[in-house]
Amino acid sequence: MPRVLSISGPNLQLLGTREPHIYGKATLAEIHARLAARGKELGAEVDARQTNHEGEIVDWIGAAGGTFDGILLNAGAFSHTSLAILDALRATGVPCVEVHLSNPEAREPYRRRSLVARACVGKVSGFGVDSYVLALEGLVRHLARG
Ligand code: DQA
Repeated sequence: MPRVLSISGPNLQLLGTREPHIYGKATLAEIHARLAARGKELGAEVDARQTNHEGEIVDWIGAAGGTFDGILLNAGAFSHTSLAILDALRATGVPCVEVHLSNPEAREPYRRRSLVARACVGKVSGFGVDSYVLALEGLVRHLARG
C-alpha cells in the first residue's frame, strides 16, 4: 500500500474563508477528508498536514524517505520562493507532485515561476479541491509504474 504525505503550506489553514473567489469555499479539513476517501479507494494511505513554517516543510520532506513513498505538495507562496524546499525534495528523492488550487500561471507575474517544480514529477493546478484528488491519482499511478 503506497504511503503518501500531503503537505499544505502557509495560509492554507484559512481555506473556506480565504479569497473564496480564487480558492473556493472548501476547508482544508474537507480537502483532507477527500484525500483520505480517494486514498482508500486507490489503496493508498494519506497523511495530510498543514504548516505555515518553511522550515517545518523542509523537516517533513527530509524525514519522508523510508516512511513515505510519495509526496503531494502545495507549498503555497513558498512554491515561488523556496530554494530550501527545492533542495529538500532533491535530497530526499521521494517522488513529489506539486498541487495548487488556483492556476498560478494565469495570475500575477510573481506567481508564474515555481521553484519547487524542478524537483517534482508533475503538477496539478487550477481545479480547486479536485487538484489535490487528481494529484493523488497521478502520484499513485506514477508509483505503480515503479
Ligand atoms: C496556491 C497558489 C500560490 O500562489 C499562493 O501563494 C497560495 C495558494 C494555490 O493553491 O493556488 O497560497 O498555492
